[in-house]
Amino acid sequence: MGFLSVLSMAHKWTAERTAPGDCVIDATAGTGVDTLALAELVGGKGIVYAFDIQQEALNRTLARIQERIASLREAEARFTDEPSVSGRNEPAVRRTSAGRARLAEVRLVLGSHADMERHVDPDLAGRIAAVMFNLGYLPGGGDPSVITEPSSTLAALDSALGLLRKGGIITCVLYPGHPGGAEEAAAVEQYAAALPQKLAQAIVYRQPQRLQSPYLVAIEKR
Ligand SMILES: C[S@@+](CC[C@H](N)C(=O)[O-])C[C@H]1O[C@@H](n2cnc3c(N)ncnc32)[C@H](O)[C@@H]1O
Repeated sequence: MGFLSVLSMAHKWTAERTAPGDCVIDATAGTGVDTLALAELVGGKGIVYAFDIQQEALNRTLARIQERIASLREAEARFTDEPSVSGRNEPAVRRTSAGRARLAEVRLVLGSHADMERHVDPDLAGRIAAVMFNLGYLPGGGDPSVITEPSSTLAALDSALGLLRKGGIITCVLYPGHPGGAEEAAAVEQYAAALPQKLAQAIVYRQPQRLQSPYLVAIEKR
């Protein structure tokens, strides 16, 4: 059967600690996979902040969100056009809009996650349900020299912990296999290990037989 991938585990732990209408953060938007998943998770009444230092990453994220909105609209229009199958003359539109998935408001921020406190609405401080980090460089043709750096990553983790509500979660996917990745991963692990247990609980999800593979550090605020 195998264990869940680190990305799937990050999403599972995040989903278990969030509810529709929550506000969450994608600290490294990249291609927008995590941003979109978060937008679906917290739904139409939720808010997702997505940070990246590269405009290309935000463009890709926006395109992914727009594509999803278009496909939701298309599916809705298709259902609305279908005749009711209930046999009780129920309007089909009522059936479909009730069950329609809706996306959160996504606020794209071109800037470092180290400055996230400055960008997040002050009313939401202490009310953030989850912050996802996926470190490293923009995949799929991005510039591999633009990578997350330990100093800004640690500053961002600190800000994220401050913004989280009690019971909220930070997930951080680490890539020890690329240049600089092992040092950054070690710095994140040390940061998590040094957190007072009264403030937060930390956990590492890793395959000890494959130390070059990506792994996950998660922090739950108490
Ligand atoms: C591995 S990718 C993220 C993948 C993404 N979550 C996805 O779903 O595709 C890492 C991203 O972090 C971004 N990044 C690097 N330093 C950053 C910083 N200080 N603040 C915010 N984003 C940063 C890079 O530009 C890159 O797009």
